[in-house]
Amino acid sequence: MHLENDYSLSKHLTMDIILSTMVEGVLVLDKNSYIIRVNRAAENIFMQLENELLYRPLQDISGNRDIINLVYEILNKGKEIFQEITFTTRQLYRVHGAPIKDNSGFVQGAVIIFYDVTEVRDFAQIRSEFVGNVSHELRTPLTSIKGFVETLLDGAMENSAICRRFLTIIDAESDRLKRLIDDLLTLSSLESNEEISRLEPVCIARSMRNVMNILGLQISEKNLQVEFIYSRSLPYIKADEDLLNQVLINLLDNAVKYTPRGGKIIIRSQRIESRVVTTFTDTGMGIPQESLARVFERFYRVDKARSRSQGGTGLGLSIVKHIVESHGGEVFVNSEIGKGSTFGISFLVI
Ligand SMILES: Nc1ncnc2c1ncn2[C@@H]1O[C@H](COP(=O)(O)OP(=O)(O)OP(=O)(O)O)[C@@H](O)[C@H]1O
Ligand SMILES: [Mg+2]
Repeated sequence: MHLENDYSLSKHLTMDIILSTMVEGVLVLDKNSYIIRVNRAAENIFMQLENELLYRPLQDISGNRDIINLVYEILNKGKEIFQEITFTTRQLYRVHGAPIKDNSGFVQGAVIIFYDVTEVRDFAQIRSEFVGNVSHELRTPLTSIKGFVETLLDGAMENSAICRRFLTIIDAESDRLKRLIDDLLTLSSLESNEEISRLEPVCIARSMRNVMNILGLQISEKNLQVEFIYSRSLPYIKADEDLLNQVLINLLDNAVKYTPRGGKIIIRSQRIESRVVTTFTDTGMGIPQESLARVFERFYRVDKARSRSQGGTGLGLSIVKHIVESHGGEVFVNSEIGKGSTFGISFLVI
C-alpha cells in the first residue's frame, strides 16, 4: 500500500515536471470547457497564473474566438483539430486539439497543445521580403541598361555624342549591379561564418588613416574638411583588419556622400572605460527621427532616389552592423535633420 502511494506520487510529480519543462503550452479542459490542467508555457500564452486559470471556463479567461470555437468543435463533435491561431496580435501558435474520450467513446474533455511558430513566420516573412528587395534592386539597373541598349540599337548609336552619353550611363549602372552583388555576397559570407576567424590586435587609428587615404579623392572633390582626432595611447582592439576597414570605409563614405560640398566631418577615436569608441560626425543633411532605427536595415534608404543616384545599394550600414556585432561590438547613431549625423562604433579593448 505504502509502496503504491509512493509510486503514484512520483508518477504525479514526474508528470508535473514534464509539463512544466515543456516549451509547448498545454491546456486540459473538462467536458464543460473548464480548465483542469495548465502548464507554465500556457500561463504565458494566456498571461495569467495557474491559480487564476484553473477551474474556470475557457471563455472566462480568453476572449479569443478562434480558440473558443476550436474547443467547442472538439467537445461537441469529438474532432481532432490542427489550426493556426494568433494571440495578442503578434504571437502565432500552431494549435493541436484532441478530445479525451471514455471507454464508451463519449467526449469527457480536451487536450490542447500550443506550438509557438511566431519566429518561423517572421523568418519566412523576412526571407520573402529580402528576395523581393533583391529582385527589385537588381531589376532597376538592368531595366535601365536594357532601355539604353535598345535605344542605341534603334539608331541612337549613329550619333557619337549620344552614344557616348548612353554608354557612360550603362557603365555606371553595371557598376551598381556589380556593387550590389558584391555586397550581397559579403553579407551572405558574414552570415554563414558567424565566428570571425582572423582576429588579431589592430590599431584602429592606423586603419582609419588608410581609409581616409582611400577616400581622399571624393573628399577633396567635394571640398570637405575631414578631421581625425585620437589619443596617442589609443589601445588596440581585436579585429579582422579587412572587415574593420570595410566598416570604416562605409561610415566615412556615407559621411562624405550625405554631406554637401564644403561641409565638415570629424572622426574621433577614444577610449571610454573598457571600450574603444569611434564616431563619425558630419554637418550633412541629417536623418529624420523616424528613420533612425531603420537605417541599419538591409536596403533601407531615407531617400531612395538620392541614394541610388549616388550609386548606393542601401546595404552599407547593414554590413557595418553585421561586422561590428560579430566582433562583439556595438553600433549607434544620433542625428538632427539639417544639422548632421553622428555614427559610432565601439569595440572592447583587448
Ligand atoms: N551620414 C549620413 N547622413 C545622412 N544620411 C545617412 C548617413 N549615413 C547613412 N544615411 C542614410 O542611411 C541610408 C542607408 O545607408 P547605407 O550606407 O546602408 O546605404 P547607402 O549609403 O544608400 O548605399 P551603400 O552604402 O550600399 O552604397 C542611406 O541611404 C541614407 O539615407
Ligand atoms: Mg552607404
